[in-house]
Order: sequence, then structure tokens, then C-alpha cells
Amino acid sequence: MNKQILLDNLRVIPDWPIKGVHFRDVTTMFKSPECIQELSNAMYDLYKDKGITKIVGIESRGFVLSSAAAYLLHAGIVLCRKPGKLPCETIQQSYAKEYGVDTIEIHKDAITPDDVVLLHDDLLATGGTMKAACDLVKKFHPKKIYCNFIIELQSEFPHARDIFDKDIEVTSLL
Ligand code: PRP
Ligand code: HPA
Repeated sequence: MNKQILLDNLRVIPDWPIKGVHFRDVTTMFKSPECIQELSNAMYDLYKDKGITKIVGIESRGFVLSSAAAYLLHAGIVLCRKPGKLPCETIQQSYAKEYGVDTIEIHKDAITPDDVVLLHDDLLATGGTMKAACDLVKKFHPKKIYCNFIIELQSEFPHARDIFDKDIEVTSLL
């Protein structure tokens, strides 16, 4: 993977959405065809032998690469959304965030016990969002859960990975 091209296309916005947050804006990577190819291929290489059947994309920036990776891995896509966006019956999970409290939900019939699930989001900060998504997916009793991020803010949140259950394999591309 060409990390340099990804880093060159990542935009950092100071004090957004609130003072003190150093916001890594992946939309500048998403508009580069080269970055989309690098990121999609990197996800494919990481998970091609894992038997992934469903990719859970976390709203909203997690949707983008979930789609590309699902195509390459021949997996289905499940949307993990903020409340009130999904039209059918859902299962919910609430969680504390770096800035506020939030809830996420998934359609009740989106995952089965036969699935091997890869959850994907753009960024790991405190880990609260992905931990809630993992707890939500666990309620469906899939065979195995993997988690992937484009960016992990290891120096700012060195203990983020510690909150995940030990049987969940976590990877990040940057
Ligand atoms: C951001 C980001 C992750 C989460 C990471 O999403 O896309 O989902 O926060 O933070 P955490 O590891 O501390 O939980 P945001 O809540 O800004 O939602 P959005 O993608 O809908 O803008
Ligand atoms: N980028 C995207 N989402 C985030 C960030 C960030 O830098 N920090 C916390 N959530």
C-alpha cells in the first residue's frame, strides 16, 4: 500500500466540530481515484482469506469503503445508521462519544448466525462508536467479527483498542 499518497490526500481541520478536536477529514482522500484504489485493495488484501460474508459500514464515512471492499470481497453490505434513518425494525445501541452521546442501529434481519462480519469505519478515536457497533453485531451471534478503520489515532488515543473484546481482530490502514 502506498501510504504516502494517502497521507498526502488527508486534510486535517483544527478545532472542528468543537475546539480541541483535530479533525482528520477523509473526504479529500475519497475524491482521489488513486486513494480509493489503494484503500480498497488494502482492505481486500487484509480480508481476502477470512470468508467475510457481510461488511457493516458505520454512518457516514464508513459507508464509502465498505461498498468498494464488499465488491472486491464478494460480501454483502449492512448499514449501521444513526436513529430514525432505517425504515424497518431495528436493534439499537447507545454509546458515549469524544463529543456527545449517540445511538446507532441496524435492521433486525440484516445479519444471521452464518455470517462472518467485517465492521468498517473511517476513524478510530476513543473507540466508542465501533465498540457500540461490535456490541450491536454480537446480538446477531455471527460466526466471527473483524473491525477495520482507515485511520487509527494511536498517539492521541493509545488505549482505544483495549475496549474491544479479545476475540475481535482490529486492523487499521493508517
Ligand atoms: C466519527 C467517525 C467515527 C467516530 C470515531 O463519526 O467517523 O464514526 O466519530 O470516534 P470514536 O472512536 O471516538 O467513537 P461522527 O460521529 O462524527 O459521525 P459522522 O460520520 O456521521 O459524521
Ligand atoms: N475525524 C473523523 N472523525 C472523528 C475524528 C476525526 O479526526 N475525531 C473523532 N471522530
